[in-house]
Amino acid sequence: MATPSKPTILVTGGAGYIGSHTALLLEQEGYDVILLDNMVYGHWDIIAPLLQAKIIKGDIGDRALLDFIFATQSIDAVIHFAAYAYVGESVAQPTKYYRNNVGGAINLLEAMLAASVKKIVFSSTCATYGVPDTTPITEEHPQNPINPYGASKLMVERILADTGAAFGLKSVIFRYFNAAGAHPSGLLGEDHHPETHLIPLVLQTALGSREAISIFGTDYPTQDGTCIRDYIHVVDLAEAHILGLKHLLQGKDSAVFNLSNGNGSSVQEVIEVSRQVTGLPIRVIECDRRPGDPPVLIGHSNKARVILGWRPRYPDLSDIISHAWAWHQRRHRPSDFSQMNLMRNPNLGEDERESLTCHPLT
Ligand SMILES: NC(=O)c1ccc[n+]([C@@H]2O[C@H](COP(=O)([O-])OP(=O)(O)OC[C@H]3O[C@@H](n4cnc5c(N)ncnc54)[C@H](O)[C@@H]3O)[C@@H](O)[C@H]2O)c1
Repeated sequence: MATPSKPTILVTGGAGYIGSHTALLLEQEGYDVILLDNMVYGHWDIIAPLLQAKIIKGDIGDRALLDFIFATQSIDAVIHFAAYAYVGESVAQPTKYYRNNVGGAINLLEAMLAASVKKIVFSSTCATYGVPDTTPITEEHPQNPINPYGASKLMVERILADTGAAFGLKSVIFRYFNAAGAHPSGLLGEDHHPETHLIPLVLQTALGSREAISIFGTDYPTQDGTCIRDYIHVVDLAEAHILGLKHLLQGKDSAVFNLSNGNGSSVQEVIEVSRQVTGLPIRVIECDRRPGDPPVLIGHSNKARVILGWRPRYPDLSDIISHAWAWHQRRHRPSDFSQMNLMRNPNLGEDERESLTCHPLT
């Protein structure tokens, strides 16, 4: 009897932070992965040794390349991470964001439809909600983004809904809160340049590559006066993507889900837990509030838990920070990475392989 073929998934932006964790988990779950990334922010050196996937260096804006990929590979679904994601830059250079995030998504969708590929998982963001009226934020909360980045993601959400109505395209849209942490193996993690996310900035301060961490605002109406955000482990995000993909492959309807922990942590708490995890002093500088920073952003993610059966595996801030710390220590020792490059698949050491294996999904 012929073995059923494994679904083949095109992962755009798969060399980035969340995409690389998802690509690894997809392979561990038995999917064939084709990864497309223009490497503007992706890290070939991190992912190539860990994946069996075909890795294509290319841009979602390149329609001829997309047509070639869809014509030559039998793709069942797309997970679309590729985008620019710097809020401040999006305010300064809005057209850059609309061209890449919206124009790129339209290009991808048109190529998918031309090839009759009608299933897509899309990375949206809590930035589509803007400043919340109520918290925790549910999927029904009004969406009023306050910057071009959030607006670009909301536009793609709208395009997916309209494309669904017109052509039967099915989508799972995930609105993530603050992605954080790293793969528990320490082999995969976050490496943005420039870095704007709090946890890596705090850990870079612990490592001595920054003098101090700035706290913007200590007089917010929160327990310790600093802003509260909802940190969700990157492996938990990756697991949600597999569940979202299964939802579509089982022929179920389009849906939108928040992905969040449901627990907020303040900036001060993140710094304190980082001091405990690293055992190092972390110097802080207290600054004025930044315009546009809501005091509290916490997501309500029961819908993903009920409909997809998603359960965050690493909800504790100390796990999130410990995993990130292991990764940052390793990333700042380049010799480990040249060794990793020598261990390209299929010759990855058994211990390394073992450490990469996440618990199977239930
Ligand atoms: N990190 C977060 O906290 C967070 C929160 C909400 C939403 N998101 C969304 O999740 C997705 C992934 O975020 P991330 O933190 O992994 O970002 P990332 O920058 O690490 O990954 C994005 C990847 O997309 C690639 N890319 C960008 N434009 C491309 C293009 N035109 N063609 C091909 N590749 C392209 C980049 O090179 C990069 O590797 C993004 O869409 C982002 O908007 C992230």
